[in-house]
Amino acid sequence: MSMSVEYDRIMTEGDNQLEARLAEQEVFEPSKSFVEQANVSDPEIYEEFEENWPECWEAAADLLEWETDYDQVLDDSDPPFYEWFTGGELNASANCLDRHLDERGDEAAIEWVGEPVDEDDRTYTYEELHREVNEFAAALRERGVEEDDVVTMYMPMIPELPIAMLACARIGAPHSVVFAGFSADALATRMNSAESEYLVTCDGYYRRGDPLDHLDKANQGLAGVEHDTTTVVVDRLGPNGDDFGHDLGGDQVDYGDLVAEHEGAEVEPVTRDAEDMLFLMYTSGTTGKPKGVKHTTGGYLSWASWTSQSVLDIEPDDTYFCSADIGWITGHSYIVYGPLSLGTTTMMYEGTPDHPERDRLWEIIEEYEATQLYTAPTAIRAFMKWGEEFPDRHDLSSLRLLGTVGEPINPRAWKWYYRHIGDEECPVVDTWWQTETGGMMVTTLPGVKDMKPGAAGPALPGLDVQILDTFGDEVEPGKAGYLTVQKPWPGMLRTLYNNDERYIDEYWAEYSDTGSDDPDDWVYFPEDGAKIDDDGYITVLGRVDDVLNVSGHRLGTMEIESAIVGVEGVAEAAVVGGNHDIKGEAVYAYVTTEDGYEGTDELREAIVAGVEDAIGPIARPEQVVFTPDLPKTRSGKIMRRLLENIADGEELGNTSTLRNPDIVEEIQQKANAE
Ligand code: PRX
Repeated sequence: MSMSVEYDRIMTEGDNQLEARLAEQEVFEPSKSFVEQANVSDPEIYEEFEENWPECWEAAADLLEWETDYDQVLDDSDPPFYEWFTGGELNASANCLDRHLDERGDEAAIEWVGEPVDEDDRTYTYEELHREVNEFAAALRERGVEEDDVVTMYMPMIPELPIAMLACARIGAPHSVVFAGFSADALATRMNSAESEYLVTCDGYYRRGDPLDHLDKANQGLAGVEHDTTTVVVDRLGPNGDDFGHDLGGDQVDYGDLVAEHEGAEVEPVTRDAEDMLFLMYTSGTTGKPKGVKHTTGGYLSWASWTSQSVLDIEPDDTYFCSADIGWITGHSYIVYGPLSLGTTTMMYEGTPDHPERDRLWEIIEEYEATQLYTAPTAIRAFMKWGEEFPDRHDLSSLRLLGTVGEPINPRAWKWYYRHIGDEECPVVDTWWQTETGGMMVTTLPGVKDMKPGAAGPALPGLDVQILDTFGDEVEPGKAGYLTVQKPWPGMLRTLYNNDERYIDEYWAEYSDTGSDDPDDWVYFPEDGAKIDDDGYITVLGRVDDVLNVSGHRLGTMEIESAIVGVEGVAEAAVVGGNHDIKGEAVYAYVTTEDGYEGTDELREAIVAGVEDAIGPIARPEQVVFTPDLPKTRSGKIMRRLLENIADGEELGNTSTLRNPDIVEEIQQKANAE
């Protein structure tokens, strides 16, 4: 963990420009028509939850159907190993399926849109989804899966992924979904770590019109698994996958055959304790070894459900669209568990937003009359770069709410989304949270709070979020500090799989008295930098290791990037710190331009001026390098580490996890030529 030793100096110096900027921040009110129908519109909720904590979280538990009522909302006798809704029993699959059958059996649970246009879209009603989940649950059982066995899934955005997840939940087998874009090695590491003996995968999927072999990669991964495994393979491609020459046999079975063999089977949902594991999700940490984040049945599901209802404003009659991948936590909480627990229609799209054209998402939203769109800033910046002509081709008036997640969104992208997608009618919720938090933590309640572009918002009701300095004292409004969560919440991770020690080290040690058994002495630290304004709105500055220290001034790379992206003609920017003899660190900026703009000297000057105007001369970039693309992982995150290598004139690090490895050398050459 990199906490700056310069911190105390910065704390006392202040930053007038930053304060001036915050004071000028624009505020947007949610529209009257939205507020009138919002699931949560009473501002008293913040006070009520604070006064009635932790019992306030019965509101979340009440959204679920319990087989046995819980006897305690929170057991905090052994911090930080908190337990929620103790004594309660339930099943997640029954909550997402069975209880909706009477009223919504014929309504769509999943609307799936395949990548090939109009070819193989599928609708699963709640009844149909329930049937296939039962059949696959019976098949998994027959193949030997028992309660508490971890089943790994390595699948793209096809309906069999949520079906397999819900089938596991039904028989009490935790799932561990590995993002399909991850490598074979990543799959093996995760299966070994979880000692997972079962894999559900598929032959392949479509990417920009072409069938892509996925089973080959899965097989390479399986070769690195240290124990015996059974694999179920979904046939996604049909005859289009024949060229890959896969023959199943031995320990590999066809998904379609299994489901057919168990046609009409019914599997009684297994009764799970509230604290029993629902799933594992591996995520990157400060070390190279991924962390297995453990989420529970009662706490996680109630959190996913409550935040879906109060923040995404989901109602059963909605057609809700989240464009994330289920291979990440966003898809778990806000494509599968949250929406289905509320009995709504959740959409899934297999492809990319620019295939066959750059209006594909808008076309889908128009066709299905989607009511919400939840996506990521990186996507919004791409849409912006492509231009508003693409959304303008479609009627997007069915949309009621927009959301973003995953990284800070700069005000310019926020406003573009608000105007060009939401027609200034839809509130935009900028939701800060993490794999570990299970669901949203810091964001506006759209029916209650005004929006401030660039700031995620206040903490949700019932959460105590504080911005602290290195000594654990709260920072003044407008000053940079570290985001902390002072009280537990139902959706929190319970521990790291088989590693309680690392759980404490990674998330609690920084600000807690780890010898204490008083919960007040325990503070959760998500490793993000942030600042808060006088209204309690939190602006997340990024991971703490993305915060630069230039001449003793603390600068969020995100903040500089936001300034650069605010310059006309700039599409995307990544800023890193490079070593500097005098300043300690200097700012290096890597910038892509919007279509129709060139990386000219004028634009470079405009960028430098833009940064100086927004933050001050201290943040002036040492170098601005124009590039056609930024180095990105397959999930779209910019690999700043490689840019740091370039800034420092070092040898390039590993580029194998990039989706565009060639770009790095190109940027290096450009940087050296300047
Ligand atoms: O740095 C924060 C950033 O993403 C991190 C969590 O990443 P992950 O566990 O992959 O989960 C992503 C989906 C929830 C956080 O520590 N982050 C996430 N949302 C935001 C954000 N940063 C700023 N604003 C957000 N809305």
